[in-house]
Amino acid sequence: MTIKHPLMHNNFTRSDFSEVKKLFNKKNPILTQSKKVEEFEKKWSKWLGVKYSTFVNSGSSANYISISLLKIINKNKNKNEIIVPSLTWISDIASVILNGFKPVFVDINLNNLSMNIDEVIKKTNKKTLAIFITHAQGFNGLNNKLLKFVKKKKIYLIEDVCESHGATFENKKLGSYGFISNFSFYYAHHMTTIEGGMISTNNKKIYETTKILRSHGMARESKNKNFENTQIKKYKNLSPNFIFLHPTLNFRNNEIGACIGISQLKKLDNNNKKRTVNFNYFLKNLDEKKYWKNFDTKGSSNYAFPIILQTINLKKRDHFETILKKKGIEFRRGNAGGGNQIRQPYLTKYTKNIKLVNFPNVEKVHFFGYYIGNYPDLPKVKINSLLNILNKINI
Ligand SMILES: Cc1ncc(COP(=O)(O)O)c(C=O)c1O
Repeated sequence: MTIKHPLMHNNFTRSDFSEVKKLFNKKNPILTQSKKVEEFEKKWSKWLGVKYSTFVNSGSSANYISISLLKIINKNKNKNEIIVPSLTWISDIASVILNGFKPVFVDINLNNLSMNIDEVIKKTNKKTLAIFITHAQGFNGLNNKLLKFVKKKKIYLIEDVCESHGATFENKKLGSYGFISNFSFYYAHHMTTIEGGMISTNNKKIYETTKILRSHGMARESKNKNFENTQIKKYKNLSPNFIFLHPTLNFRNNEIGACIGISQLKKLDNNNKKRTVNFNYFLKNLDEKKYWKNFDTKGSSNYAFPIILQTINLKKRDHFETILKKKGIEFRRGNAGGGNQIRQPYLTKYTKNIKLVNFPNVEKVHFFGYYIGNYPDLPKVKINSLLNILNKINI
């Protein structure tokens, strides 16, 4: 019997529709980026515990703009390396190479699916400009060793929190530690604006430049009159409205996305709590002979159940997938981002000399790691049915 378990369900509800309806009911509604976008950014900053946020059209755009910012502020051209995890989404690595930096890969820990901090420290050298951490699948990837290290060495820490909204380290939200942090509001995540992303920071200058980079690189987008007037004086022969300071594109979102975001944000903490209860129950009842259970759940904010098989037998792995398909349980292999980025063809130029044996944990996840859906309204009986199926598979 199939149980039909999609990766995401009901992440967009009637109450979100009614916020959009209110916008449409206005006499002359503005739908392009305007007041609602600003309101959402302010509310997001307050929720996260940072000073400034910029709403963009995706998490990938947030990644790209963040690394473009590093390129603009970096005065030492010998510093051209950025340390990245081997398990992350393509946009984290693509942002690094598209901005002319070299990605330096590190392996992950199986207990939080994030970077191995000792390896990060070992691979840091005079050329290291930044560490671009991903908090994968709701787990916290930070520790005090890393935070002390980046402070002492004056290395930028960028946090990708696209998969971990609401997760914490030492009771403070992830995304409030880094120099810049990124979030995604794609439908499948903790909360959604259909498509969307956020860039957050405590640095005013960075925030203003983020807004310039979001919108064609135009000086007037900074919304800092002093800065804008200085540019107008400096570039006398240009039309004051069209001073393009940086080569970039249009990464704006709109008022509809912002209305949905404001509505979704109200429910986020409560939904995260429900998902966490689901995850703890799921993990507690998984068969440890068949599945890895040693996850560090402290401060985690789950949105999809991670599953790592204990077996390293590919035939058993294929059998596992056959059963899931037969039962109607949608899954993704490779946990966050489809597994080991080092194996992906878009990166061959950068990775041809890398020895995969030095990346045993991401390799394990690449071949034997999965995730399946966890949503706030997932009833316990359904989790029990999932557990029943998973714990009976002959692997
Ligand atoms: C870790 C991580 N970073 C960035 C992104 C990109 O976000 P988006 O799909 O909104 O572009 C994702 C997407 O799932 C992600 O998981």
